[in-house]
Amino acid sequence: MRLIQIEEYNQKTMELAKPIYDVKGRVLLGAGHRIHPKYLEKLKSLKISYLIIEDAVSSGITLDEMVDMPTWIDAIRSVHFAYKAVKDKQLLPFRDIQNTVKKLITEVRSRRVIMLAPSTSAADEVQEQAHCVNVTLIALQMGKFLQYNELQLKDLAFGCLVHDIGKAVTDVYEEHPIKGFNLIRNVREVNLVCAHIAYQHHECFRGQGFPRKISGNEILEFAQVCAIANEYENLIAREGISPYTAIEMLMTKSDKVYSHRIVDALFKSVPSYLPGMKVELNTGNEAIVTKIETHLHRPHLRLLENGEEFSLEDNPTVIITRELSPF
Ligand SMILES: [Fe+2]
Ligand SMILES: [Fe+2]
Repeated sequence: MRLIQIEEYNQKTMELAKPIYDVKGRVLLGAGHRIHPKYLEKLKSLKISYLIIEDAVSSGITLDEMVDMPTWIDAIRSVHFAYKAVKDKQLLPFRDIQNTVKKLITEVRSRRVIMLAPSTSAADEVQEQAHCVNVTLIALQMGKFLQYNELQLKDLAFGCLVHDIGKAVTDVYEEHPIKGFNLIRNVREVNLVCAHIAYQHHECFRGQGFPRKISGNEILEFAQVCAIANEYENLIAREGISPYTAIEMLMTKSDKVYSHRIVDALFKSVPSYLPGMKVELNTGNEAIVTKIETHLHRPHLRLLENGEEFSLEDNPTVIITRELSPF
């Protein structure tokens, strides 16, 4: 199976491999069917933009790396609920967020790498919250690499889920970190460190960020993890940049915007190429990424021409020169 943009769907060669869910987590269309053109139009009108399909080229690819969709949608709903609560001047529903944190930690712990669903694949009205969930998943993946303990992972995830919650109560972009800080620290049961993640996620290593222009060790490491996960997610989901290029771009910011330790943690936590992605090799062959095993940046491939499978880890002279599909 592989992830495609809905426009690429071909009824003759593709079958739906995973169910399609609506915003409320209800199944719109079950797996294992071809999608009738009329229904395809309906899905487009519902702003469903991605599908997970099975076709000849992607057979045998399991996408075990992909986040569990019902869990992902539930998490989005929980952040959405939190935005709504603070908009209505209620206290942050911290228990609900804590439950989501637990589920997301389980998701990340159960996999070597986690493949995100694009936040732009969520319905329009919850894309902001889908972004927050994806930032959290990336941050947790980094937290695993940084060997944070359970308590640290919980605080990191909580802060990341609500890092932008200030946006629910202000339209002034520059104000959202401080507004978020105040909303979170109002809740006695939540560790103050979570509020500081929201407060500091736009600060930069050399002090050129906002709101306080703090720098270096004045910035919490959790906030730097959130900040780089935030930029990485935005590059991929909003600007349509490939994971490989996004990592390259962020590496140039080492010791400028992010500490070297944080850039390194990102590099060692997210893959450059995703299963189901078609690529071109320096040998002139075209291939599809089948899985990521031990090496995040040297995946297993299958040649499109003859189906031969091999790992880039065992073939150091074979290089991916170009991506032929966005994911
Ligand atoms: Fe932000
Ligand atoms: Fe953000």
